[in-house]
Amino acid sequence: MEDHSERAKKFAEDLVLRYKTLLAFNDDLVCGTISWESRGGLDDGIVEIIGLGVNEEFKRQGIATKLVSAMIESAVQFYSSNGYSLRVILLFMESTNEVAREFYLANRFNEVSVIPSLYPHDDASILIRHL
Ligand SMILES: CC(C)(COP(=O)(O)OP(=O)(O)OC[C@H]1O[C@@H](n2cnc3c(N)ncnc32)[C@H](O)[C@@H]1OP(=O)(O)O)[C@@H](O)C(=O)NCCC(=O)NCCS
Repeated sequence: MEDHSERAKKFAEDLVLRYKTLLAFNDDLVCGTISWESRGGLDDGIVEIIGLGVNEEFKRQGIATKLVSAMIESAVQFYSSNGYSLRVILLFMESTNEVAREFYLANRFNEVSVIPSLYPHDDASILIRHL
């Protein structure tokens, strides 16, 4: 995507306009982002993580862990302020993404299923975390 400025622009627009997004800053540099949205009705209590990424030079410093915690805090607050409870966090990821798998397993997610060929070049793993 870094080589395709139009796609990068559209991706950034989606993060800001379509999803709820948190940014992690180091001084005035964005070093990571997480985006999510509610799934189903609020009474289902389900949030899907749409994207999570940390810039290369900031990896392995606990930033994604902090982003996931901050996202959960924000989503719990959002649901409870509407009279509901957040129950489940769900995400789809490329099955061959071993780093993401290690990350999510370390953050109390479980891999519950695989959808063959969901992505053009990979299967999709579904991970969930119950609160
Ligand atoms: C996955 C990703 C978001 C992790 O971000 P991060 O800020 O480096 O993660 P953290 O520092 O919070 O790591 C927490 C734990 O996850 C695991 N982990 C993270 N990166 C790992 C790696 N490269 N190899 C093995 N385990 C890893 C470790 O258990 C780590 O704890 P430790 O450092 O104490 O051993 C980051 O590597 C990334 O942006 N990858 C590219 C985008 C992506 O794949 N996003 C997820 C799919 S939506």
